[in-house]
Amino acid sequence: MARDKVPVIDMLKADGLAEEIVNACKEWGYFRVINHGVPIELLAQMKAVNAELFDRSTEIKKGTLGGVYGKGYMERNPVTPFLESLSIDDISTFTHDFCDRLHTNPQQREIIQKYIKAMRDLAGVLGRKLMEGNGLKGDLFDGWCCQMRMNKYNYSPESVGSCGVFLHSDPSFMTILQDDEDVNGLQMVDKYTGEFIPVDPVPGTLAINMGDIAKAWSNGTFCNVQHRVWCFEPKTRYSIVLFVLGPDKTKVEAPPEFVDSEHPRLYVPIDIKEYRQVRSASKLSNGDALELFRNTKT
Ligand code: OGA
Ligand code: NI
Repeated sequence: MARDKVPVIDMLKADGLAEEIVNACKEWGYFRVINHGVPIELLAQMKAVNAELFDRSTEIKKGTLGGVYGKGYMERNPVTPFLESLSIDDISTFTHDFCDRLHTNPQQREIIQKYIKAMRDLAGVLGRKLMEGNGLKGDLFDGWCCQMRMNKYNYSPESVGSCGVFLHSDPSFMTILQDDEDVNGLQMVDKYTGEFIPVDPVPGTLAINMGDIAKAWSNGTFCNVQHRVWCFEPKTRYSIVLFVLGPDKTKVEAPPEFVDSEHPRLYVPIDIKEYRQVRSASKLSNGDALELFRNTKT
């Protein structure tokens, strides 16, 4: 039988928070957070900015592409016909450039900056809890590269009953998602039964999930949960995602504490840029790309 409850974690919980987070990462690969520290008003403001930016002309949205900037705008395409997205590939470097190219007004820019800071702060807390819950010391995501992506699902009556985003795992370490409190559709795969579990929106909360890099770092113990977005009703759906990608200059490898004779090192040290290239070239978007980074030494 599918486990149909999504774990909900109260970030203000006094005792056992770190252990609860680590346990959810292992058993589910995803959870919702409440009392996460991102002001509810800011979530609403950012959702409104998201909608406003997608209302820009295609020409302006495409202006976020190219140059040193990176990916920027992704148009609707045959693989994801309903989805368009706008992404800041490195929030520490490109946020102003992104705002300039989208001709944001000062209020929109301020909201984007505040939102990014709040999400990054939350990511930092979660990274420290992941260390603590594993009996390790330190600030896991310190200096790591993060990407922000805004999504708009242009659903119509024809899209009902099809996929907004096909089944995948995230190539990131961790993903923080502000899903649309008015339009459901996110579904996670239960790692034990393979069944889809609906992750329906709960206003004011955020959904967190682990990606491929978290599985590698934890020596296979964190679940890089597979998920998809399904269209149930012909309503436009917005989501905003912070991907904690990984360190910029060093490779990701499991700390020695995760490795012993019963738990041999599963993966070679991974360069996150190389990982993303290999994953996209091999079209293994369900986490199987990690197999290409298997440690063959015993
Ligand atoms: C993603 C993703 C879910 C959503 O961007 O990787 O799974 O609700 N998004 O938009
Ligand atoms: Ni995803």
